Amino acid sequence: MRIAICPGSFDPVTLGHLDIIKRSSRLFDKIYVAVLSNSAKQGLFTCEERKALLEKCLVGLPNVEVICFSGLLVDCVREYGASAVIKGLRAVSDFEYEFQMSLINKELNPEMETLFINTNSKYMYLSSSVVKEVGSHGGDISDFVHPAVEEEIRNRIREKGARK
Ligand code: PNS
Repeated sequence: MRIAICPGSFDPVTLGHLDIIKRSSRLFDKIYVAVLSNSAKQGLFTCEERKALLEKCLVGLPNVEVICFSGLLVDCVREYGASAVIKGLRAVSDFEYEFQMSLINKELNPEMETLFINTNSKYMYLSSSVVKEVGSHGGDISDFVHPAVEEEIRNRIREKGARK
């Protein structure tokens, strides 16, 4: 069975991420979408919340499962029996960092491969940070995220505003 991991922060998942995950699911028997649980970095959503949002967006893809992980990606790869990690590339500027990460990961686990999938051109400008920035100022994010994510971001921003 060919298993791959699609790792990321997914704070929150964007349509660009979903496009990469869906395309990956056609190439592998099983995809684990691995959400980094990083307690040092305060995100908009907790790892469990990001996982729940991803699950809502990925309904209908039976070979895709969402998990939370902490620590090293190579350990997650080993634990889930994956042979590859899939990363999306939006621009040349993404490449340098991703290339370094892939070399470090190869050093740590020579058995695994990192595969790069280029983003769909219509999502080249998208990132979770941009979504949060536009959303926090009341901008329209419906072209950037799944409706379930849009609703949660609106709720989160409303809650934050009410607490001020
Ligand atoms: O969506 P992101 O923030 O670009 O995802 C980055 C992620 C989660 C893939 C990366 O930070 C990661 O793999 N973190 C786990 C720690 C690790 O293994 N780092 C590489 C060796 S230094």
